[in-house]
Amino acid sequence: MHNPRILTEDPSLQPVADVVTELLHPHPPLSADLRLTLGQVTLQPDALGVAVSGADECYRITSTPGAITCQARTPQGVFRAALQAALYGTPGHPGVIESGPRYAWRGLSLDTARTFWSVPEVKRIIDLAALHRLNVLHLHLTDNEGWRIEIPGLPHLTAGHAHYKIEEYADLQRHAAARHVVIVPEIDLPGHAAAALAADPALPNACDPHGWDGLPFAALDPRDEATRAFITRVLTEVCHLTDGPYVHFGGDEAFGMDEELFRQAVRLAREVIRAAGKKPLGWQESARAGLEPGDVAQWWVDPSMMDLPASTEGNPALAAAGLTDELLGKIREHFAPSAGDLDRIIQAGGRVLLSPQSHLYLDRPYERQIIPAEQEHAGRLGHIYRPRTVRHAADWSPSAYGLPQENVAGVEAAVWSESLRSFDDLTVMLLPRLAAIAEIAWYGRPPAWPQARAQLAASGRLWEQRGLTFLRSTEVAWI
Ligand code: ACM
Repeated sequence: MHNPRILTEDPSLQPVADVVTELLHPHPPLSADLRLTLGQVTLQPDALGVAVSGADECYRITSTPGAITCQARTPQGVFRAALQAALYGTPGHPGVIESGPRYAWRGLSLDTARTFWSVPEVKRIIDLAALHRLNVLHLHLTDNEGWRIEIPGLPHLTAGHAHYKIEEYADLQRHAAARHVVIVPEIDLPGHAAAALAADPALPNACDPHGWDGLPFAALDPRDEATRAFITRVLTEVCHLTDGPYVHFGGDEAFGMDEELFRQAVRLAREVIRAAGKKPLGWQESARAGLEPGDVAQWWVDPSMMDLPASTEGNPALAAAGLTDELLGKIREHFAPSAGDLDRIIQAGGRVLLSPQSHLYLDRPYERQIIPAEQEHAGRLGHIYRPRTVRHAADWSPSAYGLPQENVAGVEAAVWSESLRSFDDLTVMLLPRLAAIAEIAWYGRPPAWPQARAQLAASGRLWEQRGLTFLRSTEVAWI
């Protein structure tokens, strides 16, 4: 028998055939030829949320002896079908399955500021996202620790630091687009701005730089004319560099900043992004500056935020991270208004992008008892949140919050890189959890754990073939 191939007679699908072949290389897990074709699908799109990629992703996979046909109304649908058929098998012979996503926005946010990921590394993450039918890669490009994207005419922002050059950012967008992934860039402001303030001493700090003990403050001051010009320039340039419809302006954790100044900065950011022809997106705190109907706010501080205890007593990890009881109290006070953000977004007719920290922050440490002995180092990775199992993430339900359907934007996992030093560290935190979240985002609910577990086990081989290190959690019978 010949090696199974990916075939199409439709020239408009040749790029899909080529990129699927590339993604499956060097181990195409095919038992029959995959035939790609545009055509009708009975299923009508009913995805909830914001159609960030703008395409109908529904598909039909038909199995007949000797061939598997992947049909959809759009190339993007055919792409999703081909990967699904190749990676996870097909209906029995003869058989038909139709599928479409429950959530239109299925993303991963990657922190490139705390640890810089090279262009080839980001491309591998885009490939991984595409394999699991995700369609958004949100790049967190600036933070206190670094400014990671070249801005035309402002070379001092990135001088001497690892960053994406303009052409590299364009290259990442092309790589993503070929895999039906949209890049959403984030310039985090007005808080998280120490890198910008350090690069441009003419910009004043909107708050007391000494901050709370151990937690310095750095925020852009919208009262200052040079700062307003800076925000306008940077966001306008990023909008011009970006192919996708959304630009993220951050808006989270403006520690120590006056609330009215924070609101002014957020309004300016939104105005500039709209004026440059893009749609603004901010973290949930940005809702406190008001929202236009349809504006997206990314919800991350869920009620169990950080599971912060009242005291560091009995919590050596917190004390080791420099947290004092006084600081814990201030952090709790800072986050108190977060409890009202979901209501604020809904009341304003906004859309919630679901990234609850409790389940979708994939830098959450793994529980000790699921870490196999040979991966003991994985226990040292992650932020200071309470460790959790893989099953905890795989059981997450996006409908748990009772949000009206018209107020949902989609689902996005996030990985922050303070504790990550290498690409292996990154993929160990992502996998297997990202695959479980991606399934939930596609189907809209978690499968029963035995099914999730079996699917993760099958995915393990794919990751291994692609040289992606993953946590061989003791919860899964890896094959
Ligand atoms: C965030 O985790 N500060 C959005």
